[in-house]
Amino acid sequence: MILPEPVRIPPSTKKYLAFKTKKMNKIIYFLSVIVMITLVASCGGKKESSNTEEYVANESKAEAQSGVDVIAQGEALVNGSDCKTCHHKTNKIIGPAHLEVAKKYDFTEANVKMLADKIIKGGSGVWGEVPMNGHPDLSVADAEKMAKYVLSLDGEKEH
Ligand code: HEC
Repeated sequence: MILPEPVRIPPSTKKYLAFKTKKMNKIIYFLSVIVMITLVASCGGKKESSNTEEYVANESKAEAQSGVDVIAQGEALVNGSDCKTCHHKTNKIIGPAHLEVAKKYDFTEANVKMLADKIIKGGSGVWGEVPMNGHPDLSVADAEKMAKYVLSLDGEKEH
């Protein structure tokens, strides 16, 4: 019977192999850490974006449910702009009282759009010859909120 000769690994090779497995372990460790980080990051990212979407959806839902938010926003915009130099809520200054504007027009979508356009572009001839300066920096959305606020002043609801 021939016994197989035991394999003799020279000590230098042994050291080399030990070093190699250590290195492999390190690489595997790093890879798993990277995979974990990627997983956590992608989950976190997804969660965040769905939260934002939810938030935006909730916000627009709330706005649709009651026009009150939009009108409050419009009031804040009017107060933050130069409107007050020429408009008082109930008294005529240089421009007509915003309450008078509210009484003159029905609170309809068409009038909101018309007044928003006038706020942005300016103009004269409806209340007298004094012109209103334009507000070209206002977005249409903001100008419409302002128009809605003005039109709400006589207690009318959008219809
Ligand atoms: C320089 C003065 C001045 C400023 C500032 C001003 N307005 Fe006027 N506004 C007027 C005058 C004057 C009129 C009347 C224009 C006319 O007779 O067509 C007017 C008219 C209006 C009307 C009625 C438009 C119509 O056709 O009946 C609205 C609404 C209005 N302004 C909103 C605003 C808002 C909102 C702001 C602020 C972003 C603003 N105004 C800033 C002077 C001003």
